[in-house]
This record gives sequence, structure tokens and C-alpha cells, in this order.
Amino acid sequence: MGDAFVEFEDVHKAFGDKKVLDGITFEIRRGETMVVLGGSGSGKSVLIRHIIGLHRPDRGHVIVDGDDIVDYDEEELIPVRKKVAMLFQGGALFDSMNVLDNIAYGLREHTDMADEAIREVVRRKLALVGLEDVEELMPSELSGGMKKRVALARSIAMDPQCILYDEPTTGLDPVTATTINELIRNLQRGLQVTSVVVTHDIASAFFVGDRIAYLFEGHMHFVGTVEEARTAREPRLRHFLSGGREGSVATL
Ligand SMILES: Nc1ncnc2c1ncn2[C@@H]1O[C@H](COP(=O)(O)OP(=O)(O)O)[C@@H](O)[C@H]1O
Ligand SMILES: [Mg+2]
Repeated sequence: MGDAFVEFEDVHKAFGDKKVLDGITFEIRRGETMVVLGGSGSGKSVLIRHIIGLHRPDRGHVIVDGDDIVDYDEEELIPVRKKVAMLFQGGALFDSMNVLDNIAYGLREHTDMADEAIREVVRRKLALVGLEDVEELMPSELSGGMKKRVALARSIAMDPQCILYDEPTTGLDPVTATTINELIRNLQRGLQVTSVVVTHDIASAFFVGDRIAYLFEGHMHFVGTVEEARTAREPRLRHFLSGGREGSVATL
């Protein structure tokens, strides 16, 4: 298990009587890009939110960089959330702050770096996502793709070891989506981070992923390399990859 950065062990999670995760066991290895693929409402967001303690399992263990975090309190989760950054679905920039302040937020909150040094970090992170001279702009002045990049720059501001991307290309036009997918790949290679990409977009999954995990009805029905996914015979995965609607899988 030495090369696992995140381990899920028999994780169960329900909301009321709705079972979302029904015994999830799988691991995300250091330095890899793991894609969590599944239909809308299959529990992808709920699953990855467990990695930074935004959800707690009803049963089971979530081990991050060797530590079981399921009983951690908010204080204990702070270092976990420094190690693992999340790019939320929708980007979620602070609308009342300019780009500089958005990206600098965590650095100002959690470090005692001088303002000049913070500006330099912000400049470098913006360069990594392909932007320059946008520090003074407000989120409302940015296109959807630029917002996503700024949100990504904010996610990497604290030099995380792992980045969680929740539907990073949803709602973007195809050209911008491709740019973001390339960025995810380049960041993973350049920064050697562990990446977890949640998506229902099959083309994105195959483009960015080293491995793919397929979530359906609370279970991981497949975990394997992109190559293995292409040829796997697991019927639900095949059905999903062929563009079938999951609701009709029972008729296969
Ligand atoms: N905080 C919550 N309270 C109650 N139900 C939730 C909550 N978060 C998610 N759910 C439910 O869990 C299921 C999976 O949600 P989600 O993980 O967001 O799906 P996905 O990201 O795969 O589209 C959905 O049925 C959703 O309504
Ligand atoms: Mg989601």
C-alpha cells in the first residue's frame, strides 16, 4: 500500500434512507491521475468530498497520505486541506474579490508571507494556467474558461500534493474544455501531483486519466487503466462508455 495517496476502505454513506456509497474500496496512487467516472447523481462528488473531510462516512475508512481522517475535527482537517486542494464544480471564486485576492486568499490566511512574495506566487501560478496581467480583474470580467483557470491557480497556490477536480469541463465549450484538460495533464506532469478528476464526460476521462474508476449504484464496478477500460467487458461500464443511459442497464 506504500504507493497509495488515498485509500477508501469499505466506505458507506447514506443521506436519510438514500444509500449513495455502498461499500467503496479502492486506492488512488501517488502521482497518478485517477478519473472517477459515473452518471449524474451517482455519488462522484460525495465520494471525493470525503477525501478532505467535507463528508464523513457512516462506516469505513478514508486514509489520506497514511492518516485515517474519518474522525478528524475541523482543526485536524486543516493540514489535510493544505495537502489536498479541490477545484469545485462551478469554480466558486469570491465575486467581490479581484483575481489577485482570490488566489492569495489561502496564502494570506495560512502563511505569514510578505505581500510582495505573495504577489510573486500569484504571478507564477497564473503563468502555470496560461494567464498573465489579470490580477486586477474582477471575476465578472472573466470568461468561463478564464474563471476556471483562476480557480485552478487558486487551488495550486498552496502547492498541494493532490488536486481534486469536480467536473472541471462541465459547462465549458469544447475548445475551452480541451484547454482545461490539457492543463490538468500538464500540471500533473509538471508538478508531479496526484490528481483525481470527477467527470461524466467520457472523452475527457480518456484524455486526462491514467486510470479510471467507474461508479454506479454505490459500487465501483471497474477500476483499471485507460487501456483496460477500453477493452473491459464489465457490462455496466461498456454500456456507459457506449453512451447508453444507465437507467436502462437492467435490460441488458
Ligand atoms: N448534502 C447532501 N444531502 C442529501 N443528499 C445529498 C447531499 N449531497 C448529495 N446528495 C445526494 O447524493 C446523490 C449523489 O450526489 P452527487 O455526489 O452530487 O452526484 P454526482 O456528483 O455523481 O452527480 C444524489 O442523489 C444527491 O441528491
Ligand atoms: Mg457532482
